[in-house]
Parts: sequence; C-alpha cells; structure tokens
Amino acid sequence: MRDVAAIVLAAGQGTRLKSSQPKVMHRAAGRSLIAHVLDALRPLELGQIIVVIGPDGDDVAAEVSRQHVDGVAVVVQPAPNGTADAVRVALPDVADEIGRLLVLPGDGPLVTAEALATLCDNAAGAALAMLTSQLADPFGYGRIVRDQAGTVTGIVEERDADATQKRITEVNGGVYVFERAALSSVIGGVTADNAQGELYLTDAVGAIVMQGGAVATLTVPPTITAGVNDQVQLAEAAAELRQRHLLHLMRTQGVRVVDPATTYVDVDVVIGAETTLLPGSMLSGGTVVGERATIGPFTQLDRCTVGNDAVVRATTATGAIIGEAARVGPYTHLREGTVLAADTKAGSFVEMKNTTLGHGSKAPHLAYLGDATVGEQANISCGVITVNYDGAVKSPTVIGDGAFIGCDTMLIAPVTIGERAYTAAGSVITDDVPADALAIARARQVLKDGWVAARVRSRDVSGNP
Ligand code: UD1
Ligand code: CA
Repeated sequence: MRDVAAIVLAAGQGTRLKSSQPKVMHRAAGRSLIAHVLDALRPLELGQIIVVIGPDGDDVAAEVSRQHVDGVAVVVQPAPNGTADAVRVALPDVADEIGRLLVLPGDGPLVTAEALATLCDNAAGAALAMLTSQLADPFGYGRIVRDQAGTVTGIVEERDADATQKRITEVNGGVYVFERAALSSVIGGVTADNAQGELYLTDAVGAIVMQGGAVATLTVPPTITAGVNDQVQLAEAAAELRQRHLLHLMRTQGVRVVDPATTYVDVDVVIGAETTLLPGSMLSGGTVVGERATIGPFTQLDRCTVGNDAVVRATTATGAIIGEAARVGPYTHLREGTVLAADTKAGSFVEMKNTTLGHGSKAPHLAYLGDATVGEQANISCGVITVNYDGAVKSPTVIGDGAFIGCDTMLIAPVTIGERAYTAAGSVITDDVPADALAIARARQVLKDGWVAARVRSRDVSGNP
C-alpha cells in the first residue's frame, strides 16, 4: 500500500503511567509499545511511516530506528497539545504521492496488521474509516456518536461526554484511515475548546461529517483496540500479547503448553515443535528453544538458546547456551556466558558463569564453575569450586577431557587440570595437574587413639565442667 502513509502518535507524556519513561517505551511481552505498533505496520509495506515523538523523545527515536522498518522517520511535536496537533506536526512531511493517511496511537500495542489492512480496504470511497469496539465498560475512551439512522456524527471524549453519551458502549479505537484531502481541509479548524484544553483529532472526525464526508467504521474486538494509559492496562495488554503468542506456538509448532495461565513467553521467543512448557516457565529476551525439549516447571530463561531434547527444570538462566539433550536442574543457576555442550548435565545447586562444559561432561550437584573451560566427558563431583576471584582479578580454570575432579575440590585459578587427571576429594589445587596424574592436596588424616577418654580425665583434673 505505497499510496498510504502511517502517522504514529507517540509524543504523549504518559502521565497516567506515573513513570519518567516516555509511554511508548514501556514494555509488554518483551517489546516496547512502539515496537509492537511498528510490527503491525511492517507487513503493510506503506509508502511512509512518520512517528510523532515529544521533545524528550531521543529514546523513542532510537527505539524506532532499532526496529528497521522501511520508510520510517520521526518528527518532533514541540508540546503535547493533543492528538490533532500531533497529526498537524506530521503533515508537512507527508510525500506528494500519498493519498491516504493511516493515523494510529503509539500506545495501542494490540492492533494487528490484519485489522489495519481491512480498515484500509474499507476506507476506499470514504473520507474516513476508523476502528471501533464495543466495551462493557467504555470508561476513558472516546464514544462514537451516531444519529438515529446509525450514521456516525462525531466522537465525544470521556471528559466532555454528558450522562447519555457516557452510556454509549461503542468506543473509538484511535485508528483512522483519512483521505488526505479531507483531513487537510479540517485539521486547521480544530480548536482546544474542551475539558482538557487540547486539540482533539476526534474533532476532525465531526468536522469531516459536517462537510458531508462519508465515514466508515470497522468494529473489532476490544483486544485489538485496547490502549495503554496506566499500569493496569499495560499488564492487561502484555497478557493479551503473551496469550496470542502462546496460541500461535501451540497451533503452528505443536508446542505443548500445560497451563497457559502460568506460562509467560514473550513475543520474540522461538520454540520448536513438540517442546513442552510446564507451569511457571518464563521465557524472554529472544530465547530460542529447539524441538522436543522440556522446560519447567519453574524455569526462567532470558536470552538463552536451548537445543533439541534438552530438559531444563526449575532453573534460572541468563545468556546461556544449553546444548542438545542436556539435562539442567532442578535449582540450577546458569549465568552469562555459560555454554553446555550436548549431553551434558548441570544438576541441583550448580552455578555457572562464563563457563563451557564439553560434550558429555557432568556437574551433577553443588558446584560453582566460573571462568572455566571443561573438556569432554569430564566429571565435576559434588562440592567442586573454581576459586576464580582473588578479590582483584578473575582467573581461568581449564579442565581436560575425561578429567575427574573429586568431591569438594577447590581449584585455585589460574590452574589447569590435564586430560584424564584426577583430583582427590577435599583437595585444594594450587598447581597445574598433568594429564593422567592424580593430585592429592590435603593434610593426611591423623588418628589419636583414646583421645576422648584422655580429654575427660584432663577435665576432671582441671575442675572444668
Ligand atoms: C485517544 C482518543 C480517544 C480514543 C483513545 C483510544 C483523542 C482526543 N482521544 O484518547 O477518543 O478512544 O485514544 O486509545 O484523540 N499523543 C501525541 N501528542 C499529544 C497527545 C497525544 O502524540 O499531544 C499521542 C499519545 O502518545 C498516545 C496517543 O497520541 O500514543 C493517544 O493519546 P492519549 O492521550 O493516550 O489519548 P486517549 O486519552 O487515550
Ligand atoms: Ca491512550
């Protein structure tokens, strides 16, 4: 639709969110509100997209450019004088060949490409087409006013509505497709004569009707038009976006979601066929999960990659790569830079950071591995700790293929354990261990026969209790 330009209104301050961040930068289901809106616009292949930002909108401008949408530009609205003023600021930048203007709010992250495409189709032959919804509780939205014949006569805002108008349940979705000429002819006449002292774009709708312009409406479910004005609506929008993504994963990938109500998957998360998500799973940050994996219960994965057939139970992982058929958890903490190769195991109460575990290696219980490189088929027994930090610098530990690190070994880094080498349980390893050697670094056990009886006698003599 190259003859259509979008104008995205994103300059509002979002005072009702009670946050210093620009409203459209708030995140829902892993993406900013403005990114969701641009996602809906992207497939339409419009001639132009103009995002209207506020004077403090540098973050918004940067976020817009990060989305890499063709033909997008930002313009600054110097003061938040209302939605009609925001459109007015954008109009001079509209290219000559553009015939229709798709105006939509930056705080409406639920709008879909399908709804926008249908609205554009419906706009053919009309001066204006707009999205409306029926709401049981229409509070806060502009109400669609119709005459007895059902023809739209205008829109009245909540704060300007009388008691009868407040009972209207058809609300304005804030998404319009204007014939460019019709909008241009009325926008200059909009005044701030209303309860908020703002220039309302909704007044342009009434003005077009007055001019005899035909107005078409497309009524869609409220889950498409819901706006985000406060934290309650932000949470509701995020829930809807996650729900949609889960349905998509279930339908297109056959992902098994045992309990959608307690499964939190952001929209940028990719999950392969036949993977099971158990309750309490939270996946974010573009995490990618392969096929036939089992995630959860109670697993948090942020910016992770999980291979096919892996099992990740009750785990917190950030910036980790979990290989094919790896078994992780329960109660495992994988931090930034952890790489578990295929067929590895990281068991209960194991923490890893910036550590690679080679193919088939295992750390089944109670270990800390930081800045370590572990080869293949190595065994990290219970209680092993890489002592990687001396208070000033972090040092590496290297463990060769097939090595066996005995229980409760302290590996004082920097240190290297050779291939197939063993460390005795309880050792404090300060020096490198060559391949195939056994290192024992602990005090030899001393036995004192009859020590208890001797102690009792000495107490008697001293008179101590
Ligand atoms: C607006 C509509 C209302 C509709 C609702 C749908 C008007 C007057 N009202 O109300 O009829 O039911 O959206 O969600 O249009 N913005 C600017 N510059 C400004 C003011 C706002 O860019 O000067 C942007 C905001 O950032 C926001 C959008 O325009 O993204 C809508 O503004 P907002 O204040 O949220 O309007 P609502 O009260 O929700
Ligand atoms: Ca709004």
